[in-house]
Amino acid sequence: MRTRIKDLLEQGIGGALCTFSGWVRSVRASKGICFIVLNDGSTVDGMQVVVQSDLPDFSTICHIGTGAAVTVSGTLVESPASGQKWELAAQSVLLIGSADESYPLQKKRHTFEYLRTISHLRPRTNTFGAVFRLRSRLAQAVHRFFAERNFLYVHTPIITASDCEGAGEMFRVSTLDAAAPPLLEGEPDFKQDFFGQKTALTVSGQLEGELYALAFGDIYTFGPTFRAENSNTARHASEFWMIEPEMAFATLADDAELAEQFVKYLCRFALDECADDMAFFDRHIENGLIERIRKVAEADFVRMEYSDAIDRLQRSGAEFAYPVQWGLDLQTEHERYITEQIVGGPTFILNYPKDIKAFYMRQNDDGRTVAAMDLLVPKIGEVIGGSQREERLDRLELRMAEMGIAPEPLWWYLDSRRWGSCPHAGFGLGFERLVMYLTGMENIRDVIPFPRTPRHCEF
Ligand code: 4AD
Ligand code: MG
Repeated sequence: MRTRIKDLLEQGIGGALCTFSGWVRSVRASKGICFIVLNDGSTVDGMQVVVQSDLPDFSTICHIGTGAAVTVSGTLVESPASGQKWELAAQSVLLIGSADESYPLQKKRHTFEYLRTISHLRPRTNTFGAVFRLRSRLAQAVHRFFAERNFLYVHTPIITASDCEGAGEMFRVSTLDAAAPPLLEGEPDFKQDFFGQKTALTVSGQLEGELYALAFGDIYTFGPTFRAENSNTARHASEFWMIEPEMAFATLADDAELAEQFVKYLCRFALDECADDMAFFDRHIENGLIERIRKVAEADFVRMEYSDAIDRLQRSGAEFAYPVQWGLDLQTEHERYITEQIVGGPTFILNYPKDIKAFYMRQNDDGRTVAAMDLLVPKIGEVIGGSQREERLDRLELRMAEMGIAPEPLWWYLDSRRWGSCPHAGFGLGFERLVMYLTGMENIRDVIPFPRTPRHCEF
């Protein structure tokens, strides 16, 4: 049975006989002794294996290549070298899968750009090992957070017939012959398509999530979402994961409260339960990261009206590439200025102009804003977008008409306002943006295993 290096390092007992398997990070032979550093993915730390020349096959072992898979048995001894508590005095070294000099990860350091071109191998590096361990643990923490609060986990569909955000950035799902689709008045006839109508990959599970909130009270979704927006930035991916809670009998203030608790919980979780990987990020990716995250876990998140944010940006005297004006959306540069320069911490912006937000948001009494909120954090900008929903049927129908949204395809959504409607609210947290925030990684392509971005879809 293989032991994991993480367990060995944490609970190691000197003199214990153990066997473990992993991939060779480096081999160094000198004067009748050979040092192999192995990593098995369980922790960022490798295990140093010390092979003495009296072991049979010693010279073959010295020539094992970087990247090879091996199984090693031996006794755990205290390491005289600094930086590691234990090392393994090898009794046997078994080559399981060899790797020759053509293995691309020979050097100690590679640029993230280069590693993106070998995303099938980059999980075998320290940085990506740490990122994807943290990502996995965080996903589990998300479920734990909601389970502790009795939220129902609902699986909303990935193929959908409705555009939740109304931005028209959807990937079509179709089995029609792309080269020669059946036509109706010069347009593809989607009545003849697989689902008998136009369908696409979902941009959000919210609309379906709302239906479940109106039955179970508190629910959340956690799944992949897809956006065909042509934004080639370090914060946008065409396929990303989103967590969307939805609460019945709740207001915008309740929504912000849940979002604040949620983000702080995940910060504390990363610090407490992923300490090794967080220490790695602090050392190698962003100095001061742990302190930054600790502050967020303890902070009171600021709440600021959109109108106030516009005022403060205008009065700041700062130069921006995009205009700052009531009625215009905040760009990343504005978001970052607010959270980094004006507030110096996580900030909710509340009550945006209705014309820059989606049809489902609750209309405020001022007639020009909706009960929307975005959570902005330093370095990233928006990590959460949410709102209280328009629960009044007449107001919702009017707004849809104003925005040119046909009511027929959303008959089921309107039905939810017809019987037993109630104030409700929710938000969406972009999971990759959160992982970026907690690791200090600066490009979304480096926190999702196989990134999909415009003109890029490998594997
Ligand atoms: O602000 P968004 O578009 O909100 C919604 O989709 C709502 N339906 C959520 C809700 O109220 N249930 O997206 C929510 C979050 C953003 O704040 C951002 O973190 C992330 O999803 N996001 C993206 N992440 C990566 N790549 C993209 N292209 C993203 N678009 C949005
Ligand atoms: Mg948004």
